[in-house]
Amino acid sequence: MSAAARRRDPSPALPHAIALEDLAAELRRSPGRVRALAGEDHLRTLPGGRTAVLPAGARAALAAAGRRFPFRVVAHANLKGGIGKTTSALARATRAAQLGYRVALVDLDPQASATLALGVEVPDGAPIFYDLWSRPAAYLPAALAPAPGPLALLPSALENSLLDTSLQNPKAQKNAVRDTAAALREAGHDLVVLDCPPSLGAATISALCAAHHLVIPVGTDAFSFKGLELTLQESAAIAETFALPAPAVHVLLARYDARETVAREAWERLRREHGRAVSPEPVRATSLFGKLLDRGEGLFASRRTHPARDAYKALARRILE
Ligand SMILES: Nc1ncnc2c1ncn2[C@@H]1O[C@H](COP(=O)(O)OP(=O)(O)OP(=O)(O)O)[C@@H](O)[C@H]1O
Ligand SMILES: [Mg+2]
Repeated sequence: MSAAARRRDPSPALPHAIALEDLAAELRRSPGRVRALAGEDHLRTLPGGRTAVLPAGARAALAAAGRRFPFRVVAHANLKGGIGKTTSALARATRAAQLGYRVALVDLDPQASATLALGVEVPDGAPIFYDLWSRPAAYLPAALAPAPGPLALLPSALENSLLDTSLQNPKAQKNAVRDTAAALREAGHDLVVLDCPPSLGAATISALCAAHHLVIPVGTDAFSFKGLELTLQESAAIAETFALPAPAVHVLLARYDARETVAREAWERLRREHGRAVSPEPVRATSLFGKLLDRGEGLFASRRTHPARDAYKALARRILE
């Protein structure tokens, strides 16, 4: 374990600064009041003249408004692939970072989509979860790749696919991600975001053992619903087997198109069958994600307004408040 991962591209300007109006809406206070709570030192003027607040200012404003920052681990999992786990994990991590949370994103997926999306290059031999789960305190935070703003990334690589053979012992499965999260907490992070592979293998089981919150993105297709049921069953079985508190579940309907009957029916069915566990709003289908990814920008790094952002904001509020 030598060369640590590094960012490939220079980060976009002020990627995690939040627009003053956005922060004011989040805190339900006037922009003038929020400006004072954040402190003039933490304000910046963006091209075009808008005012943005740096994460430290956002944190100060949140704290002054009574928000606390208890340590939390949020897992994103679904047996079904390609339905928005990584997109959701990235949105959660970047939104929380904008609000001043000290966020660590742990990429557990051998496909390394989150790592790629953040533009992080992982040289051969750079430590990933596979290398350090048995002794995380010894290798973290040195293994974290600098991502923009107060967002740190434990990158992933193909070797994480070997976890199913190296992480077989139930006690090790119970503790691997929990110990990693504890080491991140020790290093000063207050939010750990886990991006799981599309399987219920060792990495996902370990992630579910550590999670206070479990976000299950689903699409409108039957396979997504099957994946949702299996993921819920697995989460309940894990809590029982390991005598752990079950995480709070949030079912997130992603890629929603209200013009499609099948999408409207899926939304109704989710709300009927899962009630308050369903995230307040579905995430609309949009090409924005792909475009931002091409530019190396996250959903919240761009500061563009979009209904899909509002859906992620609503869920972030529910998890973080
Ligand atoms: N709301 C959305 N509208 C349109 N496209 C979306 C939306 N959310 C995600 N996508 C796109 O769908 C694809 C899959 O998303 P993502 O990688 O987040 O899924 P995943 O569940 O993490 O996949 P995997 O199971 O392979 O890890 C990506 O190309 C992403 O840009
Ligand atoms: Mg993914």
